[in-house]
Amino acid sequence: MKTRITDLFGIEHPIIQGGMHYVGFAELAAAVSNAGGLGTITGLTQPSAAKLADEIARCHDLTDKPFAVNLTFLPSLSTPDYPAYVKAIIDGGVKIVETAGRNPQQVLPALHDAGIKVIHKCTSVRHSLKAQSIGCDAVSVDGFECGGHPGEDDIPNFILLPRAADELEIPFVASGGMADGRSLVGALAMGAEGINMGTRFIATREAPVHENVKQALIAATELDTRLVMRPLRNTERVLVNAATERLLEKEKKLGGEIKFEDILDEVAGGVYPKVMQDGDMDAGVWSCGMVAGLIHDVPSCQELIDRIMSEANAIVRERLGGMTVSA
Ligand SMILES: Cc1cc2nc3c(=O)[nH]c(=O)nc-3n(C[C@H](O)[C@H](O)[C@H](O)COP(=O)(O)O)c2cc1C
Repeated sequence: MKTRITDLFGIEHPIIQGGMHYVGFAELAAAVSNAGGLGTITGLTQPSAAKLADEIARCHDLTDKPFAVNLTFLPSLSTPDYPAYVKAIIDGGVKIVETAGRNPQQVLPALHDAGIKVIHKCTSVRHSLKAQSIGCDAVSVDGFECGGHPGEDDIPNFILLPRAADELEIPFVASGGMADGRSLVGALAMGAEGINMGTRFIATREAPVHENVKQALIAATELDTRLVMRPLRNTERVLVNAATERLLEKEKKLGGEIKFEDILDEVAGGVYPKVMQDGDMDAGVWSCGMVAGLIHDVPSCQELIDRIMSEANAIVRERLGGMTVSA
């Protein structure tokens, strides 16, 4: 399939794996890219720029195809050394960066000077237009359904995507709730040039996470996510578990008085390795999309991407093609 996104990134299929903390290691990024999509290493999962440089080198060993690095700008206790991470990306010969969180303006000149294309993740039309105005090459439009941080507007993709299509000139992909060929065709119908998936890619053979995490996604339905940190305006969609219940109880009790320090144990850095690597499913809250309800198996990335593309082609040719009435 050829779209403005496949052209921009030099990939075969318009399917991107979004950056995911403690999931986006070289193994997954390379598997997605080898299958014709665009895999992404999560920059800040690496504890230093030097470690990110090693991870990028490892990914180059695993694939000759293009892959991306995600750079997330979210509130954290200690600000990462972003210039050093950017240097590792440039020196590592990476050609695509996915930015997320705060406005990425500070890193754009260095990335663009190095010939790197930037796709910024946005949860609203106004942020997408801002990204376009500062020179981002594309945006990933994340609807309210998404795993991770959906923002504070609560607009689902059935509204957000056509709104983005009406306003944007740069290409965009649909993110949040994407799982299969139906998602891809729906996204294309609404004006997107492809899809970005997070949660779906966790339940793949190559995702380097504990088997408990993959089984939790298969067991979960679309009813099993919750929004946490709303009172802090840092909303995150997570899978319901004991930690989520504890956190929501604390939020209810503390109300408007709540501070980030009050909930550190449930959300801070140490949680992700415990969940993703040790398989300790109640260690804290972890991002998960409503799309868990559409996940029923653990295919390889190649099987998943091939299946999405053949389903999408069949829907267009057989289902939709069969419905059109010629004049
Ligand atoms: C476990 C997990 C961790 C994530 N970590 C990050 C991250 O570190 N940076 C980021 O920009 N997005 C992160 N995301 C968001 C994804 O890149 C993607 O935008 C989102 O998952 C799309 O929604 P979906 O899960 O419905 O596919 C994360 C998502 C998940 C599920």
